[in-house]
Amino acid sequence: MNILVVGGGGREHAIIKKIKENKKVKKIYALPGNGGIARDAICVDIGAKEIDKITEFAVENKIDFAIVAPDDPLVLGCVDALNEKGIKCFGPKANAAIIEGSKIFSKNLMKKYNIPTAQYEVFENKEDALKYLEDAPIPTVIKADGLALGKGVVIAMTRDEAKDAVKSMMEDKIFGESGSKIVIEEFLEGPEVSVLSFTDGKTVVPMISSMDHKRALDNDEGLNTGGMGTIAPNPYYTKEIADECMEKIFIPTIDAMNKEGRTFSGCLYFGLMLTKDGPKVIEYNCRFGDPETQVVLPLLESDLLDIMLDIADGRLYADKVEFSKKSACCVVMASNGYPGKYETGFKLNIPEDVNAYVAGAKIKEGTLVTSGGRVLGVTCKADTLKEAIDKAYEDVKKVSFENSYYRKDIGQKALKILN
Ligand code: AMP
Ligand code: GLY
Repeated sequence: MNILVVGGGGREHAIIKKIKENKKVKKIYALPGNGGIARDAICVDIGAKEIDKITEFAVENKIDFAIVAPDDPLVLGCVDALNEKGIKCFGPKANAAIIEGSKIFSKNLMKKYNIPTAQYEVFENKEDALKYLEDAPIPTVIKADGLALGKGVVIAMTRDEAKDAVKSMMEDKIFGESGSKIVIEEFLEGPEVSVLSFTDGKTVVPMISSMDHKRALDNDEGLNTGGMGTIAPNPYYTKEIADECMEKIFIPTIDAMNKEGRTFSGCLYFGLMLTKDGPKVIEYNCRFGDPETQVVLPLLESDLLDIMLDIADGRLYADKVEFSKKSACCVVMASNGYPGKYETGFKLNIPEDVNAYVAGAKIKEGTLVTSGGRVLGVTCKADTLKEAIDKAYEDVKKVSFENSYYRKDIGQKALKILN
């Protein structure tokens, strides 16, 4: 089979390495991919948002199956466009990808179908939002309605911070049209859990749970990032909680999307907070998480491509999805300064025996060099979480590039729960 993967980050690299295990695979193209992905797939210089070019490429190159991984092309209708040309895809159509594409849509969906989430109000103009904030409970959370590269959420600890966030989204338009409408919601507290799930719109099969580390620095300090590391499984997510989530969140969400005429097929990501009043949805993503995928897929024992093909055919079998009993840890190595300003172009050395998922690197004059904020993630798995963490940090030391930095405490919070 000829496979096309849309995207070019660590998540896409993890998907590609996993589907390569399937003997049916002949060629894998990554659009655009990156310098590290080029070790495992044919990279083609077409951007993930260039829907027309992606479709044209797929037809010309006789693609049998396309995996659309990032949020932007999914929300823009990449799957719809490929399907129209008769190309089978893994990923939701635009009318279902809206579950991530519009926070207002997802909040209203949860309210209508009684799915537990933070209380909220929607605002379409700045004046109303500022007036509401005069006596809203603080801390509060301000969210841009549309996609904002993962930066559209502000946790405001004071009233002034909340007002500033509203002004920068609605007046200064820092996220463009994505911030022209906003959600202001209740601040929730508790451990966070990421649960990615496979669904064909009828059956939902949760994958192994994971924990992201979003802040740039150790002890959850510093700025929010795309994610500095992950571990799986997440020790906070007990069997009891998993059963409760299945009953109160996962199945009701799939049913709600069907009732709205927006059947969701692909990977639905549940960002959960385990509050004292039970698990609540913080966010939905219409795709695999990054860097959650980098710990979840290495623990998948079943064949990923076969699962994806079954989903595209509308017949997902729960008993065909099996996960290892092991643990995994992914440590992200970034360019010093990320998520602020950073330098790139440094020679990147990744030994063959290190399991690395490359996010920000390119090939320049035959040499692999850094090209992004998050450069790569190193994943190791082992019988225990402690061993997985130790192995990942040993492998991190084997990778080298100038100006690299990484968190030293990935998985430490999880270890404390286990002890
Ligand atoms: P997101 O960009 O939607 O993943 O949100 C970023 C982070 O903001 C989440 O991972 C949470 O840590 C935090 N967050 C979002 N919504 C809330 C909320 N209602 N209460 C507390 N924290 C939140
Ligand atoms: N790691 C969080 C996300 O993929 O949105």
